[in-house]
Order: sequence, then structure tokens, then C-alpha cells
Amino acid sequence: MKVTYIDVSKHFGSFQAVDRLNLKIETGEFLVLLGPSGCGKTTTLRMLAGLEEASSGDITIGEVCVNQVAPRDRDVAMVFQSYALYPHMTVEENISYPLKVRKITRAEIPGRVSKAADLLGIHGLLKRRPKELSGGQRQRVALARAIVRQPRVFLMDEPLSNLDAQLRLHMRGELKRLQYELGTTTLYVTHDQAEAMTLAHRVAVMDGGRIKQLDTPLNIYQRPANRFVAGFVGSPRMNFVEGKIDLGERKFVGHTMAFPLQPQVLSRVAGQQRLTLGIRPEGVRVSLQQFEGGIPASIYVSEALGNETFLFLNVGSEKIVARTDATARIDIETKVWISFDQQALHLFDPLTGDRVPDGPAVPS
Ligand SMILES: Nc1ncnc2c1ncn2[C@@H]1O[C@H](COP(=O)(O)OP(=O)(O)OP(=O)(O)O)[C@@H](O)[C@H]1O
Ligand SMILES: [Mg+2]
Repeated sequence: MKVTYIDVSKHFGSFQAVDRLNLKIETGEFLVLLGPSGCGKTTTLRMLAGLEEASSGDITIGEVCVNQVAPRDRDVAMVFQSYALYPHMTVEENISYPLKVRKITRAEIPGRVSKAADLLGIHGLLKRRPKELSGGQRQRVALARAIVRQPRVFLMDEPLSNLDAQLRLHMRGELKRLQYELGTTTLYVTHDQAEAMTLAHRVAVMDGGRIKQLDTPLNIYQRPANRFVAGFVGSPRMNFVEGKIDLGERKFVGHTMAFPLQPQVLSRVAGQQRLTLGIRPEGVRVSLQQFEGGIPASIYVSEALGNETFLFLNVGSEKIVARTDATARIDIETKVWISFDQQALHLFDPLTGDRVPDGPAVPS
């Protein structure tokens, strides 16, 4: 079922938690709200569930405005970070509870519980109580309880954040599979970018109660619309270098580094004087040998992760992170030379933080 937020704001006293939010979630879409703590994700979700009243604006489910519809009549199912299972009930009773309160016929209940339990692989746990389950198992029960209702919309608020890293990864895959099987419209909140990237059809990156970019995960990563999104998505985060364009010399001149810009970059910055360059760690090349146009740098710290190595570099007073392959073992304080892959440069207006338009692709 399609969901829309139209100019939705939420104030808590004088504090604006959500600021004129416009968002459309398509039928069957898995949309992720991603953003730092306090940016308004949970508030956005709770307004759709009806647990929080919007200060202004309209929320619709299907074609119907639900502003005046009671939470229990909205036909949405919410899964929280804390699973909130009923401790005195068995798993089976927990899962069937939403059906009982909704007056589903007795004959229909066992079949639906069984199907939900199958989907989540918890058939063997139906007779247990929540305290006899692991965190991951509890989370599955909570999900089963949400899907058994066959709601029009799923709302999930950091449902995996109480799980250990391994289980979290596993459940992430299970959620994706569940979405594939059920195709239910889902609004999913997280501040974990890997979750957002892997689960979402589209991601809405939020900051300060506003959506800073709404796009596919790949576009969010490859073409961040502004500096906030660029810096928030990606780990280690994108490097930023402030500086000026010298069109005559065809150079970028930063505080501690200067280097020539290739024509495809220069053609994008004709109107710019000052510029913020963004470059992801994988776009930084590092060499032990000096080379033409290479920027001198030294290794501050090197982190070998097994399949890749991150080099944290000092370039004058600036810090740059580079990602290199696993075999790169370079000692602290080693002198190196770096350059930036100019195909991979992101350009931002230093005043507004907005992305400088990419312009037409240069034939290669
Ligand atoms: N009931 C409330 N009264 C006052 N302020 C609130 C209330 N609920 C939330 N806020 C404030 O609104 C802002 C948004 O809160 P929200 O819970 O939506 O953030 P969030 O993005 O979910 O953050 P987190 O990732 O930490 O869960 C925060 O600054 C929070 O302090
Ligand atoms: Mg929250």
C-alpha cells in the first residue's frame, strides 16, 4: 500500500523534530530512513503508526488521509528495537495474539501462525516462552508477530540493533528474503548504513528533521547530493579538501596541497572560485615512489583488515584516508606520494554544501 507524507512537521514545544517532510513510499517498496541520532527518524515512523500526532501536514495510507485514524485502525505493524514480547505467553501465543484481538476466526489462526513461523524458521520454538530464547530468536518472534497480521505496511525501528554483529548480518539477509517473499510496503529506520545500503530500494538520508537526499542506495553512494550525505554514507568516510580553483594554471589550490585538474573536472567548475573536493578512500592512490603531480604525504597510521588496508595519511596539516589492497604494509611515518582519481572526485559548493552538477559524461 502506498504511503505519503505531505508537508509533515512535528514540534515538541519549540523544538522542531521533523521539518516539512515530503515523502512517497510506493506500494511494495522497502524504504529506509537513514541518519544520525536525533535527526527525527523514529518520530517520522511513529507519526505514520499514529503513536505521535503530526503538528501539521497530512499522512496518507493508500488514498486515505490517516491523520484522524486511530493507531489500531491504520493496519500497520511495527517492530521495535526492543522486541516487547509478552513474557507470560508462549511464542505461539505471542504470534497469534494480534490475530485474536483482531477477531480473526479461530479456524484461520493456526494456519497463519504456522506460515509465519515457517517463514522465519521458528517452528521448533513455538512452545517456549520469551525468556527461553536468544536475542536473535526473540527478534524473529517479534517479526513473525508483525507479519502474521498481513498488515498493509511494516514499520521497523532499528529492529536489529540489539543483536551481535554476526546475528545482525544474518537477520539482515533474512529480512531481505522476507521482503522478497511478502512484498509488503516497508518503512525501516536505521543509523547503520550497511543495513540501509543492502535492504533498501530507496534510502532517505535525514538530518535535522529534513530529508537531505532520497535516492537508490547506489546513487546515494556514487552521487551524493550534498556534503552531508557524502560525509555520512561511506566508511571510512569521504575525504574533504577545501580550496580554490586556478583556472589559468588549471590547478586546484588547497591549504596544504595543490595539484593539476583534468579537463573533465575543470569543465564542471568554470563558475566556481572556491570548492570543496570530496574523494572516497578508494579514490586515493598511494605510491612509495615520487611521481609527477604526486602530493607528498606520510603515514600516520595503517590499519590492515586482512582483505584491505586503510592508510591514514598526513598531508601537511590535513588528514586523508586511503584504501589500498591487503598486501600494502607500510610502516608508520613512511613518506609516500598520493594522487586522486579524478574520475572519482565529488565537487561541492563550500557555501551551500550542494553538489556541483556533474555535467555531461566525458567520452573516454
Ligand atoms: N517526546 C519528545 N519530547 C521532546 N523531544 C523529543 C521527543 N521525542 C523526540 N524528541 C526529540 O526529537 C528529535 C528527534 O527524535 P527521534 O527519536 O525521532 O530521533 P532518531 O532519529 O530516531 O534518533 P536515534 O537514532 O537516536 O533513535 C530528538 O532531538 C529528540 O530529542
Ligand atoms: Mg530512533
